Amino acid sequence: MRKIVIAGNWKMYKTQAEALEFLQVFMPELDKTPAERNVVLCVPFTNLDLLSKKLPASVHLGAQNVHWESEGAYTGEISASMLTEIRVRYVIIGHSERRQYFGETDETVNQRLKAAQQFDLLPILCVGETKQQRDSGETETHIYSQLDRDLVDVDQSALVIAYEPIWAIGTGDTCEVSEANRVIGLIRSRLSNQDVPIQYGGSVKPNNIDAIMAQPEIDGVLVGGASLEPGSFARIVNYQ
Ligand code: PGA
Repeated sequence: MRKIVIAGNWKMYKTQAEALEFLQVFMPELDKTPAERNVVLCVPFTNLDLLSKKLPASVHLGAQNVHWESEGAYTGEISASMLTEIRVRYVIIGHSERRQYFGETDETVNQRLKAAQQFDLLPILCVGETKQQRDSGETETHIYSQLDRDLVDVDQSALVIAYEPIWAIGTGDTCEVSEANRVIGLIRSRLSNQDVPIQYGGSVKPNNIDAIMAQPEIDGVLVGGASLEPGSFARIVNYQ
C-alpha cells in the first residue's frame, strides 16, 4: 500500500507570528482529516523550532533543504542532525527553485538525499521539466535523467518523489490531471521500489485537488501558494 503524503511548501513566506496565525485556523480543520493521510508542513528554517512545539503529532514538520556534511564551514547551510534535533521529519530536496536560482545540480541533490536518509529524514525529491523541454518532446528523457542521477545509492524504501512540471509552478497553469498521472506512472516504472509515494506539484488548488487525488498513480501533492492560506490548505488536506 502506498502512503498518501500531502505537503505544504511555504517557501520564503511567513514570520513566526504569521505561522501562529495560520495554525489557529488550520488545526481545528484537521479533526476531519482521515488518519491515513500524512500531512506535512515544510516551513522556513526560522519557523521550525516554534512549529515543532506547536504542531500536533498528526502534522509532520518538514524543512526545505539540508546539507550533505554533518557539520563544517558551510555558511548559510543547515545539517540533518540540526533538523532532527527539533523533530523535523521530512525535507524537500532538489526543488526547481533551488536548481534554478541556487546552483543545485543532480550531484548535490544526490549528496543531500543520502545525507538526509542517513539521519532518518524522509526526503521529498522534486523532479520535472521546463516548458521548453516539454514543447520539444524532452519531458521523459529529462525526468529519467534526473532520476538516474539523483537516486544513485539512495534507499528507495525511505523516499517520496514529487513530480513538479516547472511551467505549472506558481502559474495557475496546472498540468492536465491525466497527463500528471501518465508522467507519474512513468516515474514509477523507473523505480526499483513500486511503493515510493509520488506526489504531483504545480498550482494545486482547492478547486482541482479532488480531481488530482482521484488519479490512480498520484499519491499526494506538494502545494506552494495554496498552502499559505489555512482555509485553502485545509480544503486540500481534506480532499474528497
Ligand atoms: P505552487 O508551488 O503550488 O505555488 O505552484 C508548488 C511548489 O513549488 O512546490
